[in-house]
Amino acid sequence: MSRSQTLHRSEANSKYSFFNNKIVSSSLSLYLKNSFNSLALVYYVVGFFMLYLNPEDREDSKESHQLIQAVSDDDDILLAELLSQERFKKVINKRSGWGIPGTPLRMAASRGHLRCLEVLLANGAELDSLDVKAQTPLFTAVRGKYLSCVLTLLKAGANPNGSINNNCSPVLTAAREGDVEILKVLLQHGAEVNARSKVVLWDSNASISSGPLYLSAVYGHLDCFKILLLHGADPDYNCTDEKLFRRIKQPKTVLEMCLRHGCGVEYIKLLIDFGANVYIPTLIIEKTTKQNEAVELLLKERGCPKSLMSQCRIAIRAYLRKINRMDRIDCLDMPPILMNFLKYREMPTRSVTF
Ligand SMILES: *[C@@H]1O[C@H](CO)[C@@H](O)[C@H](O)[C@H]1NC(C)=O
Ligand SMILES: *[C@@H]1O[C@H](CO)[C@@H](O)[C@H](O)[C@H]1NC(C)=O
Ligand SMILES: *[C@@H]1O[C@H](CO)[C@@H](O)[C@H](O)[C@H]1NC(C)=O
Repeated sequence: MSRSQTLHRSEANSKYSFFNNKIVSSSLSLYLKNSFNSLALVYYVVGFFMLYLNPEDREDSKESHQLIQAVSDDDDILLAELLSQERFKKVINKRSGWGIPGTPLRMAASRGHLRCLEVLLANGAELDSLDVKAQTPLFTAVRGKYLSCVLTLLKAGANPNGSINNNCSPVLTAAREGDVEILKVLLQHGAEVNARSKVVLWDSNASISSGPLYLSAVYGHLDCFKILLLHGADPDYNCTDEKLFRRIKQPKTVLEMCLRHGCGVEYIKLLIDFGANVYIPTLIIEKTTKQNEAVELLLKERGCPKSLMSQCRIAIRAYLRKINRMDRIDCLDMPPILMNFLKYREMPTRSVTF
């Protein structure tokens, strides 16, 4: 697109936003008819007053709207053009748009518009700006399953944990959705592997706070489940939130929840291999027709403890986790065959016994 074309488009966009402002009141009544989302309505009304009562905001809003529109159209050339002007650059971190207002960066991340995202980052857009739900741009990219945007944001230094004020987190979302590649890059960039959700899942009278391990199990994402354990997820993940704990009479570990939900013997085996406490689950044998194999495995494990080699593996990994050095596991000075064992890789055919 040539320079004059882009300028022309930018001009057209500004007319468009001006027109939009004029029809606010008529569209408001239409909106009232069509929507019962009171939260969105509040933002709509607030936006309305900001536009009309504060001339400075109105000016910003016009520029913001053009930025958002360029990102929405995935027009990185126009976006770069706009951001070369001071009046646009000034509003790069302003939230705008109807419904839930967001920054241009959030828009780029939530739509997976990578080139626009790169232009915004190159122009110094704030990485972890929050929207009204305390979602960061990274979180919205994870939710949209845009791996390249996730990677770009992480490399630029976005917080892999998202915001503590959000009810969910990037890791929880990736684990639930089974996005193993996204989960990997989040964890490689130091995301909290035992992220805690503020949402409680109720399971008859017992419930737990749902961590990523639990979510990947109940949604059947074995690959995510294993990646989480490899990155040091607690196999005895349990509810520790005091407020939650008072409401939950009997918190359940991941192992118990997997047994209850009939999550499949592979999950139980992994939990056992990664050192879950096998003496905790209170087995109700008569109700477990669906999971005989899993229960058998558990009972066998109770009767016959792990080999010393397996115990050592769990101890070494627990220590690395404790000193927050799981990422340095490759630096340990040990023969490749033991390293493979430590990392739960396939053992070579010639097996080692100790
Ligand atoms: C994310 O959480 C982990 C684990 O709690 C912590 O070590 C890390 O510093 C956090 N990252 C940021 C950027 O806050
Ligand atoms: C749940 O609790 C109620 C009493 O609060 C009890 O009557 C019921 O049997 C319990 N159900 C289960 C599945 O434990
Ligand atoms: C879970 O945590 C509670 C305290 O938060 C503790 O009393 C309980 O024993 C724990 N359960 C397991 C299985 O670790």
